[in-house]
Amino acid sequence: MSLRLGMASTVVLSSPGAAHEALHKKDGSVSSRWVPDNANVLGHKDISMAWLPSSSPLWKHLRTVASTLLFTSRRLGASRGIRERKARELVEHFRARSGQPVRVGLAVFEAVLNFMSNVFFSEDVVDMGSDRGKEFQELIADSVAETAKPNISDFFPFLSALDLSRRRRAAASNLKKFYDFFDAVIDRRLNSGEKSGDLLDSLLELHANSQLERPLIRALMTDLFIAGSHTTATTVEWTMAELLRNPSKMAKARAELDEAFGRGAVEEGELGRLPYLQAVIKETLRLHPPGPLLLPHEASEHGVTLGGYSVPKGTRVLINAWAIGRDPVAWSPEPEAFSPERFLDHHREVDFWGRSFEFIPFGSGRRACPGIPLAATVVPLVVATMLHSFQWTLPEGKAPGDVDLRDRFGAVLELASPLWAVPVSIPADDLY
Ligand code: HEM
Repeated sequence: MSLRLGMASTVVLSSPGAAHEALHKKDGSVSSRWVPDNANVLGHKDISMAWLPSSSPLWKHLRTVASTLLFTSRRLGASRGIRERKARELVEHFRARSGQPVRVGLAVFEAVLNFMSNVFFSEDVVDMGSDRGKEFQELIADSVAETAKPNISDFFPFLSALDLSRRRRAAASNLKKFYDFFDAVIDRRLNSGEKSGDLLDSLLELHANSQLERPLIRALMTDLFIAGSHTTATTVEWTMAELLRNPSKMAKARAELDEAFGRGAVEEGELGRLPYLQAVIKETLRLHPPGPLLLPHEASEHGVTLGGYSVPKGTRVLINAWAIGRDPVAWSPEPEAFSPERFLDHHREVDFWGRSFEFIPFGSGRRACPGIPLAATVVPLVVATMLHSFQWTLPEGKAPGDVDLRDRFGAVLELASPLWAVPVSIPADDLY
């Protein structure tokens, strides 16, 4: 599909075959970024992993830094203890509210921010369940919401200097707050002289060896938080919503966890070996990909064709992962039904890594999400911990069929009505 909004030409690809052509066969010509006007503040787009073109050596350097310092299994393994501790804190949070309705997504979002901040720089950024320390959380929520608002400058670039929608001003103010926040984190670490063995230590080592300038460190942290926190938390909320709507699937997932862990705590290292839990998460991402159109790609060369049509250089290319995940040919029978069992079929070797073009919630090819290893660890850990520690029911008067699965597309695809549910502590031996 080709759209023209104002002066901006956009092509939307909505089938597995079209995604394969763009992200695999022609990856080199379509893996640049179409950069929205509000990313063009404080010089961020020129140092940001999310917005630099893939031809940029700096983009390659930042991707290598992220994948070698943060997302290798050795690195992630080293921070397992932190995540299990943070998961216990989430359990305590819900336990203190046992029997009462909680807004699931809010608590999970706070927990995910602390998961990430502890893996990156060994500090909590949110004081869970209290109003203190909410600035960082609000800043993320605000920045994510801001990126989704329409901007006249994107449709009529010649008006961009006027910033008529005031989007650039808002984005600059948020970005400045991120930079100040991470500058303070970096200063605290440098002044303390302590080593925590986390991502920040490794980034500062590169900095000391002149391999990474300080502005790049705070820009990288900013990108990782903005790209990784809402997406991860929303996936957990969607998973819980689907399971509360489908009690028999919830029972199956809990039975698998009981068999694996008995009355003991969930162990992160075992989660990859729980096929039903993994299938539940894949099925959730198939139906509710947090980035339904990925991030905007751009045709970076003359003479590119997609589906036989010529796509001029500079055209925005959107890949509709949402439609692809519901493709009637790829996902029959019942493409709209929540059925984790479809991923247990051994003929269907479908994983997160972008090798199967009918399932690309993280994108595919050189621009695919670099945070997959962290997301694929944190989402199952949080879901498993929540399911294994509590019976989950709906607030009084609500039946499973009342769970509202309508979505709303802001910067991420989220539930139109936030999920409320009741955690009831399991009255067996203490799990932790
Ligand atoms: C369930 C969770 C997540 C989902 C569904 C998700 C999905 C995506 C998608 C669809 C893209 C764009 C791919 C493209 O344009 O082709 C992306 C890019 C990105 N993601 Fe994720 N992501 C998740 C979690 C994370 C986490 C945990 C991090 C880091 C801590 C992260 C960091 C990034 C970054 C930095 C980019 C931009 C990469 C680039 O442009 O080179 N994401 N993600």
